[in-house]
This record gives sequence, C-alpha cells and structure tokens, in this order.
Amino acid sequence: MARQFFVGGNFKMNGTIKSITDIVHNLNNAPLDPRTEVVLSPPALFLLLVREHLKPEIEVCSQNVFDKPNGAFTGEISAEQLSDSKITWALCGHSERRVILKEDDTFIASKTKAALDGGLGVILCCGETLEQREANQTIEVVTTQLSAIASKTKDWSKVVIAYEPVWAIGTGKVATTEQAQEVHAAIRKWLGETVSKEAAEKTRIIYGGSVSEKNCKELAKQSDIDGFLVGGASLKPAFVDIINAKQ
Ligand code: G3P
Repeated sequence: MARQFFVGGNFKMNGTIKSITDIVHNLNNAPLDPRTEVVLSPPALFLLLVREHLKPEIEVCSQNVFDKPNGAFTGEISAEQLSDSKITWALCGHSERRVILKEDDTFIASKTKAALDGGLGVILCCGETLEQREANQTIEVVTTQLSAIASKTKDWSKVVIAYEPVWAIGTGKVATTEQAQEVHAAIRKWLGETVSKEAAEKTRIIYGGSVSEKNCKELAKQSDIDGFLVGGASLKPAFVDIINAKQ
C-alpha cells in the first residue's frame, strides 16, 4: 500500500496575527494536491486562530505537548487540551527543543506516549549534528533517539517520523538526495527490525532541513522520502509548491 505524501509546516516562533492569517488565506485558496496530507504548526498562541480559519482538510499541529493531562504545570499544554481544541497533531523531539530546552530522549518518549494516548498524531523528529555525521554516527544517533520511543509505545500508526539533520536546519545546506534517502532507508529497516514489518511498510518518514521549492521535487522522488517538515519556506507562498512536490 502506498504511503500518503505528508507535508508539515513548522512556523517555529514566527508570525503575527496578520501574517499568519495571510498564510491561512493563501493556503485556503491555493490549488493543493489532494493526495498530500498537509499539517500546519503555528506558535501555540495562534493554534485556535489557525484552526478556526483554515480549511478543514488541513490539520493543525502543536509545536509542543506536555506529558501530563492537567494540573499545576505553568506554561504547558496537554494532549487532552489540544484534542479538545481540534488540534490533532503534536511535534515531539525537535532538535531546537532537544538543544535549547534540554529535552532528553526519556522526556521526549514520555511526551510522545502522552500525545498518542491522548489521541493525537505525532510528528517525531530525529537527526544528527554535523559532528556526529562527520564521526559516522548518523544511523546510531537516529536509531538511539527512536529506540527511546519504541521502548514506550508499540503502536506507530499515528507517528510520522521526521528526519532532520541538525546541520541542515535553517542553514540553507540541504542534505543531498542520497544522504537523505540513505538515512530514511536505515530508519525503515530499523522499524522493521524493532517495531514490526507493518510499521516499516506504513510509517511515513519525512525529511526536514532547508527544504525549498527548488530542492523538494528531487527529494520527493526518493523511495523512502514520504514528505517534508518545512520551517522557513512554510512561511512563504512557495510552501504551496512544496506541498505539490509530487505533481
Ligand atoms: O521543523 C522544520 C525544520 O526544523 C527545518 O527548518 O527552516 O531548515 O526548513 P528549515
């Protein structure tokens, strides 16, 4: 069974009411490939605004989720609250949260489990630093990050794995199609060996890191690249071309 192409837009801490409303308006009116599943991830402050105005075919994703259902956790948002607000996806394990917010594999696994248990889909990010790539540790780093999740959850049907090499994020330095395909294939092999044959066949593995309208078509041709997680370019009209990369 073919895996549905998946494109996420991660706005990170960017945008205003005006600029995000413009992006929503643009997407609502653009000719989007109906075969692509599209998910938008604005800052938490704008989740409801986006959900209210965005056409229902496009889902909305929180950039973060906490691992408890409710309580005295200042500044956090639970899976239950997101789900109640029709926010159906959450990002977990983004390298910016791993590095800047000091989130470790155990916490990321706990958040991923809470999100899945709360009924959300999870875009689960993994990826190596430049140093790790140069030391030939890429596959080991990525599979170690994913193993932490596999130890807590067996059901990967609502997980999309985003391979995002840290050195390619926001740098304009995109991984070559060969580099990306090699890691995606290794992740798929790992899924087959560690989770199940079904998970290996069905789980979408998407690429993130300086994806643009210029490089997306070549990357999208690779057999194990099932879509993209887009940062900077998701704030621009060219995001439409990335959504339509398979056309
Ligand atoms: O989550 C998306 C991401 O980290 C890639 O960002 O700006 O390089 O497309 P960017």
